[in-house]
Amino acid sequence: MTQEKAELHRGLREVYIDRTTSSFIDGKIGKLYYRGYNIDDLATNCSFEEVIYLVMIGELPTEKQLDDFTVELRSYMDIPEQIVDIIKATKEAHPMDVLRTCISAMAAFDPEVDDNSAEATLRKGTRLTAAAPTIVTTHARIRQGKEPVKPDPNLNLAANFLYMLFGEIPDPRDAALIDKDFVLHAEHGLNASSFGARVSASTQADLHCAITTGISVLKGPSHGGAAESVMTMSLEIGEEDNAEKYVRDTLSGGGRIMGFGHRVYRAVDPRSLHLQDDLKELGERKGEPKWYSILQKVVEVMQPYARRGICQNVDFFSGAMYFLLDIPEDLFISIFAMGRIPGWTAQVIEQFENNILLRPRLEYVGELDRKFVPIGQRS
Ligand SMILES: CC(C)(COP(=O)(O)OP(=O)(O)OC[C@H]1O[C@@H](n2cnc3c(N)ncnc32)[C@H](O)[C@@H]1OP(=O)(O)O)[C@@H](O)C(=O)NCCC(=O)NCCS
Repeated sequence: MTQEKAELHRGLREVYIDRTTSSFIDGKIGKLYYRGYNIDDLATNCSFEEVIYLVMIGELPTEKQLDDFTVELRSYMDIPEQIVDIIKATKEAHPMDVLRTCISAMAAFDPEVDDNSAEATLRKGTRLTAAAPTIVTTHARIRQGKEPVKPDPNLNLAANFLYMLFGEIPDPRDAALIDKDFVLHAEHGLNASSFGARVSASTQADLHCAITTGISVLKGPSHGGAAESVMTMSLEIGEEDNAEKYVRDTLSGGGRIMGFGHRVYRAVDPRSLHLQDDLKELGERKGEPKWYSILQKVVEVMQPYARRGICQNVDFFSGAMYFLLDIPEDLFISIFAMGRIPGWTAQVIEQFENNILLRPRLEYVGELDRKFVPIGQRS
């Protein structure tokens, strides 16, 4: 038996598996584009609804197209009673487990579940993007023993998220922060969760399967879970004066500073710059500027790492922002997931359009031709 000597690409680092027009990360200089538009322009000028349209359809909408699309999105925000029952049955689970389970279960109620055409996948992506905030907030309230709040058709997705979470029409400035946060999370190249979604789609499984996979992959602390870990770190640091020692102790103990480092960026993640400004403004407005100061101190102490290309990423400032908005910490990753459904959808449509089964190989390094021993004779 012979095996060819394999050339390994562990972690698929620097491996290109296909072409895309969805997004581009210029990691050397810290730039990000959705469909060719710089994230800085989108984050400062567009609503999440506009960006969903851009990412999933490929063009910025006209006013009329955006109005129609917004009406369509809002019409899909209600979730079936059976999904509420599933939430009740799983209410003790982590919010990401509940979201993943409910997105999967939504397949049972989608009339186009098996239709993998681009048009149907787009409609399903629109429906799942609209339903996700309702699922997350319904769970958040049920586990607190509160009645779920129905979506308000007069509010956008971001404002609805806060409204359904807290039961009050949110301060427009808070809603604008969540709106921008969703924009910043909408799409991001072949990150692990988008790769997972594409692997699902490459077998010709449907969008519900692919998004369920995406949510599963996103949950880990190396990916979407980092925002929660950054907030845990900030709470442990407690005061700006403790930050330097905390960082040095963590690094000398072989640990990592969460919210730092990225597989593609060798410069500061441009999304983190927007969130940094937002956190500063929010901290001052809420009379709690210390979280911003603590994180700035961490950035300062991490300067030697920046020279090695380990800089702050999107998760670094977002956790403190959610915290100041009184959002429970275990909901942080779900906010990332809600924002990313358009990106997963766009990439699944691309995968379907030029499909090839994603099936890499593993180099076998175990033994061969071992002598088989019947069960009764094994010691
Ligand atoms: C995101 C991440 C998984 C990317 O990892 P990667 O591309 O596989 O890079 P590696 O894990 O191989 O790390 C490369 C080097 O940078 C160091 N490094 C990477 N991230 C680091 C961090 N957050 N803190 C300290 N050192 C870090 C590693 O220790 C390693 O050093 P070495 O070469 O001396 O062993 C990694 O940076 C990380 O764990 N970050 C913290 C979690 C996080 O913020 N995730 C959200 C990403 S958006």
